[in-house]
Amino acid sequence: MLDIRARVPRQPTTHIMLRKCYINDMSRSGLKNIVMLMSELTNLIRWMLSLCIYICWMLLNCKALKRRFRIMTETDHFLLHKKLEGKVAIITGGASGIGEATARLFAQHGARAIVIADIQDALGQSVAESIGHGQCTYVHCDVADEGQVKGLIDSTVEAFGNLDIMFSNAGVGKTGDLRQSILDLNLDASDRLFAINTRGMAACVKHAARAMVEGSVKGGSIVCTGSLAASTGVEQFIDYAMCKHAVLGLVRCASKGLGEYGIRVNCVSPGGVATPLTCNELLACNEMTLSVEECEKFLEGIMGLKGFGATKTKDIANAVLFLASQDSQFITGQNLIVDGGTKLP
Ligand SMILES: NC(=O)c1ccc[n+]([C@@H]2O[C@H](COP(=O)([O-])OP(=O)(O)OC[C@H]3O[C@@H](n4cnc5c(N)ncnc54)[C@H](O)[C@@H]3O)[C@@H](O)[C@H]2O)c1
Repeated sequence: MLDIRARVPRQPTTHIMLRKCYINDMSRSGLKNIVMLMSELTNLIRWMLSLCIYICWMLLNCKALKRRFRIMTETDHFLLHKKLEGKVAIITGGASGIGEATARLFAQHGARAIVIADIQDALGQSVAESIGHGQCTYVHCDVADEGQVKGLIDSTVEAFGNLDIMFSNAGVGKTGDLRQSILDLNLDASDRLFAINTRGMAACVKHAARAMVEGSVKGGSIVCTGSLAASTGVEQFIDYAMCKHAVLGLVRCASKGLGEYGIRVNCVSPGGVATPLTCNELLACNEMTLSVEECEKFLEGIMGLKGFGATKTKDIANAVLFLASQDSQFITGQNLIVDGGTKLP
């Protein structure tokens, strides 16, 4: 018998073929799976790497944040500790130099209203604008004219209800020849200097004090700008030194008379600050004005305290803030000299 099965070459059964196909498929898809797995792994590693980088970045930033946070809390503390919250202040000569720096500092310390009084209208208005019209206004006032001073104080009380602080600061350096000695003192020129620097200060103290007394203001503070030249003799700038000596006398007398009303009167006396008054008047030689840098270099040179550069307007403003605020509640009739140990030539 012919065994057909023996003759017929054995064909793989469909089952086997299917299995082979399946195995082939399996190895192909296995490869695919491995490739996919590898790419997944690479993705995972990449993702983990970015996570590590992100965590490092966060940690670094956290340090910066912490540092920043500490600075912020210090600033916040400074800002929270506003020394003039709700106060109404007038600053004469506030369009420039020490007056301007003080207006800005008073604003930072929460003063409700700051009135800048000056004769430089455009400058005064721009300072008031830069501080903010809600908080600061400019009024034209020549302190040499008592009527204008009275008008300034009346309009302030009318607009803001009362007056808490008067910083009587407006002043000039010269009206004649600054280099004059006692032998050739020009008394006519000195009259103008006295009209602004002494008479003007007296008018401001008088009318501010009246407004404070009439308004029963609690803790009123009047600060006048004197000078280092108010406490020492000088060979030149004689009339300037004389009128600043008079300011000191005014402050001492006014503090005696106003104590019973709880009003303090003090003087802040700068040594030398590179303001227009110093660069263009006090240190100008034969009408040659000095630049701020030249002026500061000279002032630093005559200062005993070394290592901090020259005194700036902000340093004087800080002293005014102290005298204006309740930080100096029991200080009256005093002259606070801010001169870094300056020795006048
Ligand atoms: N800068 C210093 O080194 C120095 C030193 C000692 C004392 N001071 C005193 O400081 C005060 C401020 O001076 P500064 O150095 O800031 O100078 P500054 O020139 O920058 O400011 C003085 C301001 O007073 C104003 N002013 C002048 N005459 C006026 C008047 N009749 N009415 C109203 N305003 C008037 C000016 O327009 C100016 O804006 C002055 O009393 C000055 O004598 C200054």
